[in-house]
Amino acid sequence: MEPIFKIAWRAAHEAGDLIKRNFQNLQNIDIQSKGKNDFVTRVDREAEGIITKVIASNFPDHQVLAEEGGLSTQKGEYLWVVDPLDGTTNFIQGIPHFAVALALMKNEQVIFGLIYDPLLRECFHAASGQGAFLNDAPIVVSAIKQMGSAFGATGFPFKAPHLLTPYTDVFKILLPQCQDLRRCGSAALDLAYVACGRYDFFWESHLLPWDFMAGKLIVEEAGGTTSDFSGKELPVQTSSVLAANRCLHPTLLDLIGPHFN
Ligand code: IPD
Ligand code: CA
Ligand code: CA
Repeated sequence: MEPIFKIAWRAAHEAGDLIKRNFQNLQNIDIQSKGKNDFVTRVDREAEGIITKVIASNFPDHQVLAEEGGLSTQKGEYLWVVDPLDGTTNFIQGIPHFAVALALMKNEQVIFGLIYDPLLRECFHAASGQGAFLNDAPIVVSAIKQMGSAFGATGFPFKAPHLLTPYTDVFKILLPQCQDLRRCGSAALDLAYVACGRYDFFWESHLLPWDFMAGKLIVEEAGGTTSDFSGKELPVQTSSVLAANRCLHPTLLDLIGPHFN
């Protein structure tokens, strides 16, 4: 995994440096709409260009699925899943909470994940069977066992209005049962924060593989559990996402799952 880590680290840091530079000058980021409440900037595209170039020059036979550019043409067992800037709306609004997220899959299984916050210079990564790390230090999920002490994070279904009713039903049940909730606007960092115990759990109803694939492995390698809202393994397609420590995950699945089935 060493060469994969080195290349992913370099790609994420080069993209992160570009994002950080542009965050000082938000007048020039050329915001475009991809759909309702869904934006892309020149910086998303340039960051993605940096990442895909680093991957292609080091692993020419690896396929890439990137948020802005879609699927590359190579066919093979390796697939990189790339979110060049997770938290674009935060970035546009001048809110300093966003990340670069990269995952490597082999035959549909995620084998490596890296999430990099360029402002805090925090790099979360995991390789399957080798644990999870924040920069050089091993990380583990929280040990909280009771919902009453649990501190969670979520994302709103702002791109999927049909999910608003089940979402708010869950919110009404969950908020009074737990310590508190956050909605910080980067699903990749939400998952990284579950992995290192800053959050005890995270749920969001409508995410894409580049939002969660790196975080899935990082949470699992940190000792946590991930699934969709019906308890199934996260697929390489649009999905709901629930991540938590092993103790809280079944309770949360029982609370959330029935509202979305
Ligand atoms: C978004 C962020 C956000 C989540 C959205 C995602 P983007 O990713 O992860 O937290 O609520 O569903 O689309 O568009 O900034 O890469
Ligand atoms: Ca994203
Ligand atoms: Ca993005």
